[in-house]
Amino acid sequence: MKSIIAVHSYKGGTGKTSLSVNLAASLAKRGRKVAILDLDFRAPSLFSILKMEDSNLWINDYLNGASTINKILQETNGKGLNKGKLFAGLANPSTEAIRDMSAKDRKWEMRALGRLLSLRNTLLKEQNFDFIVFDTSPGLQYSSINAIVSADLVIVVTTSDRSDVNGTSRMLRELYNLFEKKTGVVINKILDANLDSKKEELNKRAKEVYQVSLLGLVPCFCEVLKSQGNLIFVEDKPNHPFTKIMDEIATRIEKNEI
Ligand SMILES: Nc1ncnc2c1ncn2[C@@H]1O[C@H](COP(=O)(O)OP(=O)(O)OP(=O)(O)O)[C@@H](O)[C@H]1O
Ligand SMILES: [Mg+2]
Repeated sequence: MKSIIAVHSYKGGTGKTSLSVNLAASLAKRGRKVAILDLDFRAPSLFSILKMEDSNLWINDYLNGASTINKILQETNGKGLNKGKLFAGLANPSTEAIRDMSAKDRKWEMRALGRLLSLRNTLLKEQNFDFIVFDTSPGLQYSSINAIVSADLVIVVTTSDRSDVNGTSRMLRELYNLFEKKTGVVINKILDANLDSKKEELNKRAKEVYQVSLLGLVPCFCEVLKSQGNLIFVEDKPNHPFTKIMDEIATRIEKNEI
């Protein structure tokens, strides 16, 4: 089923960007046409992870009404994607653009929401994309709320950090319930060596504390940290356990088993 997926979290650094990129690559690997959009205008990172540093095409211009989405999206040269395609819409990392985006008013944000909502028609219907993945800023930024409102599925990435668990459960209760979005939680950076013995407890936490379905449990992998953003595991390390977990989550998304 075609869908728009927003990847969000309460706290920063939980793994949203890692998950967005790898899930998008995993969906593309199975022959799908996928677009990933960097909506984290406070700290753009997709241009760097996808090694598209020379770009001068920005999703900022689309949201500002200065360009069309077709002109902004660029095909990535992902490895091992077979017949699949992965396109990226990058956020402008210049200091000026970051300052400009953080000074937008409500009226601008409302118009930006309209432009995000219209992607369903232009990309999913007209351009025949199968999936659009939004990588967002953490917390309750206006741009992240817009991404959530425009999505069919929200993936909330959380860690076991005490303040993250508290903040995430509050955010899910108070904000997500309001929008009535299909939501799945991914618990990332799990430190226990023996994940199997923890599975029951983490499942219980998802049900009781977060009250949403558990989409994935991801251990903390030193190799992921050590890659320092230089590798896209789904493309570069197809047999790594991190890749296997990303593939499992992508399968559930594809089959709409959330
Ligand atoms: N499962 C994991 N094991 C080890 N390191 C991880 C894992 N997932 C993500 N990381 C690392 O955590 C750091 C933060 O990840 P990432 O940038 O994806 O988070 P983020 O939620 O997008 O952050 P921000 O809120 O700043 O946008 C990165 O160095 C990344 O490599
Ligand atoms: Mg990020």
